[in-house]
Amino acid sequence: MSYKESYTEELRGNFLKYMREAFQLLPKMEKPNILDLGCGSGSITLKLANLTDGNITAIDIDQTLLDRLNERIKIRTLINRITTKRMDFLKNEFPDKYFDLIWEAGVVQIIGFKESFKACYRILKDGGYLVLGQAIKTFDKNIDKLSKSGFELIKQLNWPKGCWWTDYYEPLERKIKDIQEGKEDPHLFENIKAIESEISWVKANPDESDCAYYILQKNGEGN
Ligand SMILES: C[S@@+](CC[C@H](N)C(=O)[O-])C[C@H]1O[C@@H](n2cnc3c(N)ncnc32)[C@H](O)[C@@H]1O
Repeated sequence: MSYKESYTEELRGNFLKYMREAFQLLPKMEKPNILDLGCGSGSITLKLANLTDGNITAIDIDQTLLDRLNERIKIRTLINRITTKRMDFLKNEFPDKYFDLIWEAGVVQIIGFKESFKACYRILKDGGYLVLGQAIKTFDKNIDKLSKSGFELIKQLNWPKGCWWTDYYEPLERKIKDIQEGKEDPHLFENIKAIESEISWVKANPDESDCAYYILQKNGEGN
């Protein structure tokens, strides 16, 4: 069996170094029970498996992405360390106080900060950690939802300013140009128009995609 990373997956791999840096800010945990919330095709899931000796549950609502992740898990013989499940996080039935760590990147802003904090609070052990990978502006707009959530922001790791442009959108734009000039496989991207419109948005809003990892700890009363 072979798994070919898509070009966008390959580029997003450029950001895994920030994930590793953020992970290293957490205290050492023995065989932690980890949830990768909204895992997508699983680049972060696989990195988590690499960084810990724990067990990882990776959930997403999109079965196509989970199928890709399942293929990657098989190739790396990680079946006994990673469990995947199709699930809407807000309807999860995990037991109370089940996880030591919940990791999310780019998901909470889709499903709602307040709702996510509430659901994460229930299933995290006391003292457990919730790591959010978010655009700084989005996080700042939702900072009020942290109060009374039962979480405390203990650390923040900013990604280098403009790295979404230099490490992701600029190479993507170059690749699209190569396709248009007949120098690249025209089937490289499923939806070139959607990518072009993302690129235009990032060009018009250069600061909006600056990101950080936020490390939150459950150490209070949730509501
Ligand atoms: C921006 S992608 C991030 C994927 C992955 N975390 C990463 O960084 O590569 C957001 C993911 O959240 C998933 N998602 C959206 N709503 C969800 C929900 N209610 N429950 C679980 N996953 C959800 C999407 O299907 C998508 O894969």
